[in-house]
Amino acid sequence: MTRYIVEGGRRLVGEISISGAKNSVLPILAATIINNGFSTIMNVPFINDFKIMMKILTMIGCKISRVGDIVTINSKTVDTINIPEDLVREMRSSIILMGAMLSRCGQVKISYPGGCEIGPRPIDLHLKALKQLGVEIKESYGFIECKASKLKGNDILLDYPSVGATENIMLAGVKAEGITVIRNAAKEPEIVDLQNYLNKAGGKIYGAGTSVIKIEGVNELKSVEYTIIPDRIVAGTYMTAAAITNGEIVLKNIETEHIQSIISKLREAGCKIYSNCTALKIVGPKEIQAIESIKTSPYPGYPTDMQAQMMALLTISNGTSLISETVFENRFKHVPELTRMGANITTIDRVAVIKGVKKLTGAKVTAKDLRGGASLVLAGLAAEGTTEIDNIFHTERGYEKLDENLRNLGAIIKKV
Ligand code: UD1
Repeated sequence: MTRYIVEGGRRLVGEISISGAKNSVLPILAATIINNGFSTIMNVPFINDFKIMMKILTMIGCKISRVGDIVTINSKTVDTINIPEDLVREMRSSIILMGAMLSRCGQVKISYPGGCEIGPRPIDLHLKALKQLGVEIKESYGFIECKASKLKGNDILLDYPSVGATENIMLAGVKAEGITVIRNAAKEPEIVDLQNYLNKAGGKIYGAGTSVIKIEGVNELKSVEYTIIPDRIVAGTYMTAAAITNGEIVLKNIETEHIQSIISKLREAGCKIYSNCTALKIVGPKEIQAIESIKTSPYPGYPTDMQAQMMALLTISNGTSLISETVFENRFKHVPELTRMGANITTIDRVAVIKGVKKLTGAKVTAKDLRGGASLVLAGLAAEGTTEIDNIFHTERGYEKLDENLRNLGAIIKKV
Protein backbone atom coordinates (compact mmCIF):
# COMPACT_ATOMS: atom_id res chain seq x y z
CA MET A 1 0.00 0.00 0.00
CA THR A 2 1.52 3.32 -1.02
CA ARG A 3 2.06 5.90 1.69
CA TYR A 4 3.33 9.42 2.06
CA ILE A 5 5.97 10.13 4.66
CA VAL A 6 6.16 13.79 5.58
CA GLU A 7 8.75 15.53 7.76
CA GLY A 8 6.97 18.60 9.09
CA GLY A 9 8.20 22.06 9.90
CA ARG A 10 9.48 23.30 6.53
CA ARG A 11 8.33 26.64 5.18
CA LEU A 12 7.01 26.19 1.61
CA VAL A 13 8.33 28.76 -0.85
CA GLY A 14 8.19 28.88 -4.62
CA GLU A 15 5.96 28.79 -7.64
CA ILE A 16 3.47 26.24 -8.95
CA SER A 17 1.33 25.97 -12.06
CA ILE A 18 -2.12 24.50 -11.42
CA SER A 19 -3.36 21.56 -13.50
CA GLY A 20 -6.74 21.20 -15.21
CA ALA A 21 -9.88 20.62 -13.14
CA LYS A 22 -10.81 17.03 -12.25
CA ASN A 23 -14.49 17.95 -11.98
CA SER A 24 -14.44 19.47 -15.48
CA VAL A 25 -12.44 16.84 -17.25
CA LEU A 26 -14.67 13.94 -16.12
CA PRO A 27 -17.99 15.28 -17.51
CA ILE A 28 -16.25 16.62 -20.62
CA LEU A 29 -14.66 13.23 -21.32
CA ALA A 30 -18.11 11.69 -20.89
CA ALA A 31 -19.46 14.31 -23.31
CA THR A 32 -16.95 13.28 -25.98
CA ILE A 33 -19.02 10.08 -26.42
CA ILE A 34 -21.90 12.14 -27.83
CA ASN A 35 -19.62 13.62 -30.43
CA ASN A 36 -19.60 11.35 -33.46
CA GLY A 37 -16.08 12.51 -34.32
CA PHE A 38 -12.83 13.61 -32.69
CA SER A 39 -12.44 15.59 -29.46
CA THR A 40 -9.05 16.99 -28.56
CA ILE A 41 -8.99 17.98 -24.90
CA MET A 42 -6.13 20.08 -23.52
CA ASN A 43 -4.89 20.79 -19.98
CA VAL A 44 -5.99 17.33 -18.87
CA PRO A 45 -4.72 16.41 -15.37
CA PHE A 46 -3.03 13.00 -15.16
CA ILE A 47 -4.89 11.80 -12.07
CA ASN A 48 -6.38 8.43 -11.23
CA ASP A 49 -9.99 9.44 -11.89
CA PHE A 50 -8.93 10.50 -15.39
CA LYS A 51 -7.27 7.10 -15.90
CA ILE A 52 -10.45 5.30 -14.83
CA MET A 53 -12.54 7.38 -17.23
CA MET A 54 -10.07 6.58 -20.03
CA LYS A 55 -10.44 2.86 -19.29
CA ILE A 56 -14.22 3.13 -19.39
CA LEU A 57 -14.18 5.01 -22.70
CA THR A 58 -11.77 2.48 -24.18
CA MET A 59 -13.91 -0.44 -23.05
CA ILE A 60 -17.03 0.99 -24.70
CA GLY A 61 -15.11 1.32 -27.97
CA CYS A 62 -13.50 4.80 -28.09
CA LYS A 63 -10.00 5.14 -29.57
CA ILE A 64 -7.83 7.35 -27.39
CA SER A 65 -4.36 8.85 -27.64
CA ARG A 66 -2.53 11.01 -25.10
CA VAL A 67 0.52 13.23 -25.47
CA GLY A 68 1.35 15.02 -22.21
CA ASP A 69 -1.77 16.88 -21.12
CA ILE A 70 -3.48 16.61 -24.52
CA VAL A 71 -5.92 13.77 -25.11
CA THR A 72 -7.66 12.94 -28.37
CA ILE A 73 -10.77 10.77 -28.35
CA ASN A 74 -12.32 9.22 -31.40
CA SER A 75 -15.81 8.18 -30.34
CA LYS A 76 -17.09 7.11 -33.78
CA THR A 77 -16.30 3.55 -32.77
CA VAL A 78 -18.49 3.26 -29.63
CA ASP A 79 -19.98 -0.23 -29.84
CA THR A 80 -21.67 -1.15 -26.55
CA ILE A 81 -24.23 0.25 -24.15
CA ASN A 82 -22.80 -1.60 -21.13
CA ILE A 83 -20.56 0.42 -18.84
CA PRO A 84 -18.01 -1.84 -17.06
CA GLU A 85 -19.26 -2.44 -13.53
CA ASP A 86 -15.96 -2.59 -11.63
CA LEU A 87 -14.83 0.78 -13.02
CA VAL A 88 -18.14 2.48 -12.23
CA ARG A 89 -17.81 1.27 -8.65
CA GLU A 90 -14.35 2.83 -8.44
CA MET A 91 -15.56 6.25 -9.43
CA ARG A 92 -18.88 7.78 -8.55
CA SER A 93 -18.73 10.42 -11.25
CA SER A 94 -19.07 7.71 -13.89
CA ILE A 95 -22.79 8.27 -13.34
CA ILE A 96 -22.55 11.20 -15.78
CA LEU A 97 -22.04 8.58 -18.48
CA MET A 98 -25.81 7.98 -18.27
CA GLY A 99 -26.73 11.28 -19.92
CA ALA A 100 -23.92 11.00 -22.47
CA MET A 101 -24.75 7.41 -23.48
CA LEU A 102 -28.46 8.21 -23.76
CA SER A 103 -27.61 11.07 -26.11
CA ARG A 104 -25.33 8.85 -28.14
CA CYS A 105 -27.07 5.45 -28.17
CA GLY A 106 -30.55 6.00 -26.69
CA GLN A 107 -29.75 3.43 -24.01
CA VAL A 108 -27.30 2.54 -21.27
CA LYS A 109 -26.80 -0.10 -18.59
CA ILE A 110 -24.73 0.98 -15.62
CA SER A 111 -24.23 -0.24 -12.05
CA TYR A 112 -24.77 1.93 -9.01
CA PRO A 113 -21.66 4.10 -8.59
CA GLY A 114 -18.89 4.08 -5.97
CA GLY A 115 -16.44 6.89 -5.15
CA CYS A 116 -15.67 8.81 -1.96
CA GLU A 117 -17.38 7.51 1.16
CA ILE A 118 -18.78 10.85 2.22
CA GLY A 119 -22.42 10.12 2.78
CA PRO A 120 -25.18 8.19 1.04
CA ARG A 121 -24.85 10.25 -2.19
CA PRO A 122 -28.10 9.13 -3.80
CA ILE A 123 -28.84 9.65 -7.50
CA ASP A 124 -32.58 10.20 -7.23
CA LEU A 125 -32.35 13.68 -8.78
CA HIS A 126 -30.51 12.29 -11.82
CA LEU A 127 -33.09 9.55 -12.38
CA LYS A 128 -36.11 11.79 -11.85
CA ALA A 129 -34.76 14.33 -14.37
CA LEU A 130 -33.93 11.70 -16.98
CA LYS A 131 -37.47 10.32 -16.68
CA GLN A 132 -38.76 13.81 -17.41
CA LEU A 133 -36.75 13.74 -20.66
CA GLY A 134 -38.60 10.58 -21.74
CA VAL A 135 -36.18 7.96 -20.42
CA GLU A 136 -37.58 4.65 -19.18
CA ILE A 137 -35.63 3.42 -16.19
CA LYS A 138 -35.48 -0.09 -14.75
CA GLU A 139 -33.51 -0.68 -11.56
CA SER A 140 -32.58 -4.24 -10.60
CA TYR A 141 -29.77 -6.14 -8.89
CA GLY A 142 -27.61 -3.04 -8.47
CA PHE A 143 -27.96 -2.04 -12.11
CA ILE A 144 -29.78 0.82 -13.77
CA GLU A 145 -31.06 0.25 -17.29
CA CYS A 146 -32.13 3.34 -19.21
CA LYS A 147 -33.82 3.48 -22.59
CA ALA A 148 -35.26 6.33 -24.63
CA SER A 149 -36.59 5.81 -28.13
CA LYS A 150 -36.52 9.61 -28.35
CA LEU A 151 -35.21 12.09 -25.79
CA LYS A 152 -37.68 14.97 -25.44
CA GLY A 153 -36.93 18.38 -23.93
CA ASN A 154 -38.79 19.35 -20.78
CA ASP A 155 -38.88 21.92 -17.99
CA ILE A 156 -37.01 20.43 -15.03
CA LEU A 157 -36.86 21.81 -11.52
CA LEU A 158 -34.07 20.33 -9.42
CA ASP A 159 -34.98 20.04 -5.72
CA TYR A 160 -31.29 20.71 -4.97
CA PRO A 161 -28.66 22.26 -7.27
CA SER A 162 -26.79 18.98 -7.75
CA VAL A 163 -23.64 19.29 -9.84
CA GLY A 164 -23.84 15.79 -11.30
CA ALA A 165 -27.59 15.94 -12.01
CA THR A 166 -27.21 19.30 -13.78
CA GLU A 167 -24.46 17.79 -15.93
CA ASN A 168 -26.44 14.66 -16.72
CA ILE A 169 -29.41 16.75 -17.87
CA MET A 170 -27.14 18.91 -20.05
CA LEU A 171 -25.63 15.78 -21.61
CA ALA A 172 -29.01 14.15 -22.22
CA GLY A 173 -30.61 17.43 -23.32
CA VAL A 174 -28.01 18.61 -25.81
CA LYS A 175 -29.47 16.41 -28.57
CA ALA A 176 -33.00 16.02 -27.19
CA GLU A 177 -35.93 17.13 -29.31
CA GLY A 178 -37.03 20.69 -28.49
CA ILE A 179 -36.06 22.76 -25.49
CA THR A 180 -34.88 21.63 -22.06
CA VAL A 181 -34.84 24.05 -19.17
CA ILE A 182 -33.04 23.29 -15.88
CA ARG A 183 -34.21 25.38 -12.94
CA ASN A 184 -32.27 25.57 -9.68
CA ALA A 185 -29.28 24.31 -11.69
CA ALA A 186 -25.84 24.03 -10.08
CA LYS A 187 -23.73 27.13 -10.82
CA GLU A 188 -20.23 25.66 -10.40
CA PRO A 189 -17.52 26.79 -12.87
CA GLU A 190 -17.30 23.18 -14.08
CA ILE A 191 -20.91 23.46 -15.33
CA VAL A 192 -19.88 26.50 -17.38
CA ASP A 193 -16.91 24.52 -18.70
CA LEU A 194 -19.20 21.70 -19.83
CA GLN A 195 -21.51 24.20 -21.55
CA ASN A 196 -18.52 25.77 -23.32
CA TYR A 197 -17.24 22.41 -24.52
CA LEU A 198 -20.68 21.32 -25.79
CA ASN A 199 -21.30 24.64 -27.52
CA LYS A 200 -17.90 24.58 -29.19
CA ALA A 201 -18.89 21.17 -30.56
CA GLY A 202 -22.14 22.62 -31.95
CA GLY A 203 -24.51 22.48 -28.95
CA LYS A 204 -26.89 25.33 -28.08
CA ILE A 205 -26.84 25.77 -24.32
CA TYR A 206 -27.31 29.07 -22.51
CA GLY A 207 -27.23 30.23 -18.91
CA ALA A 208 -24.65 27.93 -17.26
CA GLY A 209 -23.26 29.72 -14.22
CA THR A 210 -26.76 30.98 -13.35
CA SER A 211 -29.56 28.95 -11.80
CA VAL A 212 -31.52 28.61 -15.07
CA ILE A 213 -29.98 26.75 -18.00
CA LYS A 214 -31.71 26.55 -21.37
CA ILE A 215 -30.81 23.87 -23.90
CA GLU A 216 -31.99 23.88 -27.51
CA GLY A 217 -31.56 20.36 -28.84
CA VAL A 218 -29.32 19.99 -31.91
CA ASN A 219 -28.99 17.05 -34.32
CA GLU A 220 -25.33 16.35 -33.86
CA LEU A 221 -22.06 17.44 -32.28
CA LYS A 222 -18.95 17.82 -34.40
CA SER A 223 -15.20 17.46 -33.88
CA VAL A 224 -13.76 19.97 -31.43
CA GLU A 225 -10.62 21.17 -29.60
CA TYR A 226 -11.12 22.35 -26.04
CA THR A 227 -9.01 23.48 -23.05
CA ILE A 228 -10.10 22.50 -19.51
CA ILE A 229 -10.25 25.21 -16.80
CA PRO A 230 -7.72 25.12 -13.92
CA ASP A 231 -8.62 23.10 -10.83
CA ARG A 232 -9.88 25.49 -8.14
CA ILE A 233 -9.66 22.88 -5.38
CA VAL A 234 -6.06 21.96 -6.22
CA ALA A 235 -5.28 25.71 -6.20
CA GLY A 236 -6.98 26.08 -2.80
CA THR A 237 -5.05 23.10 -1.42
CA TYR A 238 -1.65 24.59 -2.35
CA MET A 239 -2.76 27.95 -0.98
CA THR A 240 -3.54 26.23 2.29
CA ALA A 241 -0.10 24.58 2.19
CA ALA A 242 1.42 28.09 2.11
CA ALA A 243 -0.91 29.21 4.89
CA ILE A 244 -0.16 26.31 7.24
CA THR A 245 3.65 26.54 6.83
CA ASN A 246 3.92 30.34 7.06
CA GLY A 247 5.15 29.99 3.48
CA GLU A 248 5.08 32.11 0.37
CA ILE A 249 3.76 30.57 -2.86
CA VAL A 250 2.95 31.96 -6.29
CA LEU A 251 0.20 30.09 -8.15
CA LYS A 252 0.02 30.31 -11.93
CA ASN A 253 -2.62 29.11 -14.38
CA ILE A 254 -5.57 29.73 -12.07
CA GLU A 255 -8.93 31.48 -12.46
CA THR A 256 -8.96 33.86 -9.51
CA GLU A 257 -12.69 34.43 -10.01
CA HIS A 258 -13.37 30.75 -9.21
CA ILE A 259 -11.61 30.81 -5.83
CA GLN A 260 -12.99 34.00 -4.28
CA SER A 261 -14.62 32.18 -1.34
CA ILE A 262 -11.35 30.37 -0.59
CA ILE A 263 -9.36 33.61 -0.82
CA SER A 264 -11.80 35.30 1.51
CA LYS A 265 -11.51 32.62 4.23
CA LEU A 266 -7.72 32.39 3.95
CA ARG A 267 -7.56 36.17 4.40
CA GLU A 268 -9.70 35.81 7.54
CA ALA A 269 -7.13 33.27 8.74
CA GLY A 270 -4.47 35.97 8.39
CA CYS A 271 -2.97 35.22 4.93
CA LYS A 272 -1.85 38.03 2.66
CA ILE A 273 -3.04 37.39 -0.89
CA TYR A 274 -2.22 39.46 -3.97
CA SER A 275 -3.82 38.47 -7.26
CA ASN A 276 -4.65 39.24 -10.85
CA CYS A 277 -7.03 37.20 -13.06
CA THR A 278 -4.81 34.16 -13.63
CA ALA A 279 -2.13 34.22 -10.91
CA LEU A 280 -1.76 34.96 -7.24
CA LYS A 281 0.75 35.17 -4.46
CA ILE A 282 -0.10 34.00 -0.96
CA VAL A 283 1.91 34.64 2.18
CA GLY A 284 0.99 32.56 5.23
CA PRO A 285 0.62 34.27 8.62
CA LYS A 286 2.98 33.90 11.60
CA GLU A 287 -0.08 33.27 13.75
CA ILE A 288 -3.10 31.59 12.10
CA GLN A 289 -6.32 33.35 13.10
CA ALA A 290 -9.32 31.27 14.17
CA ILE A 291 -12.39 31.71 11.95
CA GLU A 292 -15.72 32.22 13.69
CA SER A 293 -17.76 30.36 11.09
CA ILE A 294 -17.33 28.55 7.79
CA LYS A 295 -20.32 26.97 6.12
CA THR A 296 -19.88 24.86 3.02
CA SER A 297 -22.48 25.47 0.31
CA PRO A 298 -22.95 25.23 -3.46
CA TYR A 299 -20.92 27.66 -5.61
CA PRO A 300 -20.24 30.56 -5.14
CA GLY A 301 -20.29 29.56 -1.46
CA TYR A 302 -17.34 27.96 0.33
CA PRO A 303 -16.69 24.58 -1.41
CA THR A 304 -17.24 21.35 0.49
CA ASP A 305 -14.18 20.05 -1.38
CA MET A 306 -12.04 22.56 0.60
CA GLN A 307 -13.58 21.83 4.00
CA ALA A 308 -11.06 19.22 5.18
CA GLN A 309 -8.02 21.26 4.11
CA MET A 310 -9.31 24.36 5.92
CA MET A 311 -9.93 22.27 9.01
CA ALA A 312 -6.30 21.14 9.01
CA LEU A 313 -5.23 24.80 8.94
CA LEU A 314 -7.54 25.81 11.78
CA THR A 315 -6.28 23.04 14.08
CA ILE A 316 -3.26 25.28 14.82
CA SER A 317 -5.06 28.62 14.88
CA ASN A 318 -5.12 30.99 17.85
CA GLY A 319 -8.71 30.27 19.00
CA THR A 320 -11.92 28.37 18.33
CA SER A 321 -13.39 27.92 14.83
CA LEU A 322 -16.66 26.42 13.61
CA ILE A 323 -17.13 24.55 10.35
CA SER A 324 -20.60 23.49 9.20
CA GLU A 325 -20.78 20.92 6.42
CA THR A 326 -24.11 21.47 4.68
CA VAL A 327 -23.49 19.68 1.36
CA PHE A 328 -22.59 16.10 2.35
CA GLU A 329 -23.84 14.12 5.33
CA ASN A 330 -20.71 12.27 6.31
CA ARG A 331 -17.71 14.35 5.45
CA PHE A 332 -15.75 14.48 8.72
CA LYS A 333 -13.79 11.24 8.40
CA HIS A 334 -10.52 13.19 8.61
CA VAL A 335 -11.43 14.38 12.12
CA PRO A 336 -10.28 11.29 14.08
CA GLU A 337 -7.07 11.25 12.00
CA LEU A 338 -6.32 14.93 12.69
CA THR A 339 -7.06 14.21 16.35
CA ARG A 340 -4.38 11.51 16.33
CA MET A 341 -1.97 14.27 15.38
CA GLY A 342 -2.95 16.33 18.41
CA ALA A 343 -5.82 18.40 17.02
CA ASN A 344 -8.68 19.31 19.34
CA ILE A 345 -11.88 18.82 17.32
CA THR A 346 -15.36 17.82 18.37
CA THR A 347 -18.23 17.20 15.99
CA ILE A 348 -21.95 17.42 16.57
CA ASP A 349 -23.91 16.22 13.54
CA ARG A 350 -22.64 18.33 10.68
CA VAL A 351 -20.77 20.91 12.76
CA ALA A 352 -17.11 20.68 13.79
CA VAL A 353 -15.72 22.79 16.62
CA ILE A 354 -11.98 23.23 16.23
CA LYS A 355 -10.03 24.52 19.21
CA GLY A 356 -6.63 25.66 18.03
CA VAL A 357 -3.63 23.90 19.61
CA LYS A 358 -0.02 25.18 19.74
CA LYS A 359 1.29 22.43 17.49
CA LEU A 360 0.44 19.15 15.77
CA THR A 361 2.71 16.14 16.15
CA GLY A 362 3.53 13.54 13.50
CA ALA A 363 1.59 10.26 13.64
CA LYS A 364 0.51 7.31 11.52
CA VAL A 365 -2.78 8.27 9.89
CA THR A 366 -5.04 7.00 7.12
CA ALA A 367 -6.60 8.86 4.21
CA LYS A 368 -10.30 8.00 4.22
CA ASP A 369 -11.28 10.00 1.14
CA LEU A 370 -9.77 12.31 -1.47
CA ARG A 371 -9.90 15.70 0.26
CA GLY A 372 -9.54 14.24 3.74
CA GLY A 373 -6.26 12.71 2.52
CA ALA A 374 -5.10 16.13 1.32
CA SER A 375 -5.90 17.61 4.73
CA LEU A 376 -3.63 15.03 6.40
CA VAL A 377 -0.77 15.92 4.06
CA LEU A 378 -1.25 19.60 4.98
CA ALA A 379 -1.32 18.75 8.69
CA GLY A 380 1.86 16.68 8.20
CA LEU A 381 3.63 19.66 6.61
CA ALA A 382 3.00 21.71 9.75
CA ALA A 383 3.43 18.95 12.36
CA GLU A 384 6.48 18.39 14.52
CA GLY A 385 8.18 15.14 13.48
CA THR A 386 7.17 12.51 10.95
CA THR A 387 3.68 11.84 9.64
CA GLU A 388 2.87 8.67 7.72
CA ILE A 389 -0.28 8.77 5.63
CA ASP A 390 -1.53 5.55 4.12
CA ASN A 391 -4.29 4.79 1.57
CA ILE A 392 -3.03 7.67 -0.55
CA PHE A 393 -4.72 6.16 -3.59
CA HIS A 394 -7.63 8.36 -2.46
CA THR A 395 -5.49 11.48 -2.79
CA GLU A 396 -4.12 10.39 -6.14
CA ARG A 397 -7.65 10.32 -7.54
CA GLY A 398 -7.56 14.11 -7.67
CA TYR A 399 -4.00 15.46 -7.27
CA GLU A 400 -1.34 15.13 -9.93
CA LYS A 401 2.21 14.67 -8.58
CA LEU A 402 1.26 16.02 -5.15
CA ASP A 403 4.49 14.84 -3.48
CA GLU A 404 6.75 16.06 -6.29
CA ASN A 405 5.05 19.47 -6.38
CA LEU A 406 5.37 19.87 -2.61
CA ARG A 407 9.05 18.86 -2.75
CA ASN A 408 9.61 21.54 -5.40
CA LEU A 409 8.23 24.02 -2.88
CA GLY A 410 10.68 22.82 -0.21
CA ALA A 411 8.64 20.17 1.62
CA ILE A 412 10.21 16.92 2.80
CA ILE A 413 7.75 14.32 1.57
CA LYS A 414 8.24 10.99 -0.10
CA LYS A 415 5.98 8.33 -1.51
CA VAL A 416 6.88 4.79 -0.48
C1 UD1 B 1 -19.70 17.07 -7.38
C2 UD1 B 1 -18.18 17.00 -7.36
C3 UD1 B 1 -17.69 16.86 -5.93
C4 UD1 B 1 -18.25 17.95 -5.05
C5 UD1 B 1 -19.77 18.04 -5.20
C6 UD1 B 1 -20.38 19.24 -4.47
C7 UD1 B 1 -17.66 15.99 -9.49
C8 UD1 B 1 -17.09 14.83 -10.22
N1 UD1 B 1 -17.76 15.88 -8.15
O1 UD1 B 1 -20.19 15.83 -6.87
O2 UD1 B 1 -16.27 16.93 -5.95
O3 UD1 B 1 -17.95 17.69 -3.71
O4 UD1 B 1 -20.13 18.16 -6.58
O5 UD1 B 1 -19.80 20.42 -4.90
O6 UD1 B 1 -17.96 17.01 -10.08
N2 UD1 B 1 -27.79 14.52 -3.99
C9 UD1 B 1 -28.99 13.87 -3.83
N3 UD1 B 1 -29.54 13.25 -4.91
C10 UD1 B 1 -28.98 13.27 -6.15
C11 UD1 B 1 -27.75 13.96 -6.31
C12 UD1 B 1 -27.18 14.56 -5.21
O7 UD1 B 1 -29.54 13.82 -2.73
O8 UD1 B 1 -29.54 12.69 -7.10
C13 UD1 B 1 -27.14 15.15 -2.82
C14 UD1 B 1 -25.81 14.49 -2.49
O9 UD1 B 1 -26.00 13.34 -1.70
C15 UD1 B 1 -25.09 15.59 -1.76
C16 UD1 B 1 -25.59 16.85 -2.48
O10 UD1 B 1 -26.78 16.48 -3.15
O11 UD1 B 1 -25.48 15.63 -0.42
C17 UD1 B 1 -24.60 17.41 -3.50
O12 UD1 B 1 -24.31 16.47 -4.48
P1 UD1 B 1 -23.91 16.84 -5.98
O13 UD1 B 1 -23.92 18.32 -6.17
O14 UD1 B 1 -24.72 16.01 -6.88
O15 UD1 B 1 -22.39 16.34 -6.02
P2 UD1 B 1 -21.71 15.42 -7.06
O16 UD1 B 1 -22.14 15.80 -8.44
O17 UD1 B 1 -21.82 14.02 -6.64
